[in-house]
Amino acid sequence: MIIAPSLLAADFGRLAKETERVDRSGADWLHLDIMDGHFVPNISFGPAVVRTLRPLTKLFFDVHLMCSKPEILLEPFAKAGAAQMNIHVELGEHVMPLIWRIKSLGKQVGLAINPPTSIVMVQPFLAKIDSLLIMTVNPGFGGQSFIYETLPKIQQAQAWRREKNLRYHIGVDGGIDFKTARECAHSGADSFISGTTLFEQRNLGAAVRKMRKAVESGQADALSSQAFEPKLNAPGRADGAKAGKSALHEAS
Ligand code: DX5
Ligand code: ZN
Repeated sequence: MIIAPSLLAADFGRLAKETERVDRSGADWLHLDIMDGHFVPNISFGPAVVRTLRPLTKLFFDVHLMCSKPEILLEPFAKAGAAQMNIHVELGEHVMPLIWRIKSLGKQVGLAINPPTSIVMVQPFLAKIDSLLIMTVNPGFGGQSFIYETLPKIQQAQAWRREKNLRYHIGVDGGIDFKTARECAHSGADSFISGTTLFEQRNLGAAVRKMRKAVESGQADALSSQAFEPKLNAPGRADGAKAGKSALHEAS
């Protein structure tokens, strides 16, 4: 499980102190949202800020590029200290070359998908990526409400991961609080990007621990519901409500 506070929700007047706060919190990654004012209607910060924060912590820097032309930013962010760079599947024909460019820079590859975009769009890239970042709000701003219609995408991503025996992380980003983290964990997410909910707590370490507990509850819910799920393809269970012979008879 990965808990990744998003620096977008930090106090921008004290980014160094906020980064040190995340470092002490027990979080796994620091999520860095890069917005270009074109791909999304907002602007955040660039490689110079990431370079300044890099010496303050050993945390894994997860850079989320909400940018129309990430190709001009990959090398600067790689040099500034990114460990992983997420590009958006909405960039279409540019996605595969961008993935190879990130790999050639020696960094991990993340692929992000916006709420209105069909999950089938990521399918051709799944074997090449380290993380799939399922946007659970329309990107551009922190503090938005979670979009529940994205939950089936998480389930599909998990089904593909299992079927194809792949290992990519399934991340969720936007509106992640203790309740939605639990629900996303239930659907199969394993990486939780959270800005507003985590940073608004005075004790960030306690908030990170509380989010881990919420995720564990969601994972436990998923295990127990699997145990009670009818095996749809098993003989004699053609209908979950009818077991054994009668169902077999009805099917024949
Ligand atoms: C949204 C960003 C998110 C954002 C999440 O455009 O990609 O990473 O910081 O913030 P909250 O948790 O406030 O929705
Ligand atoms: Zn993000």
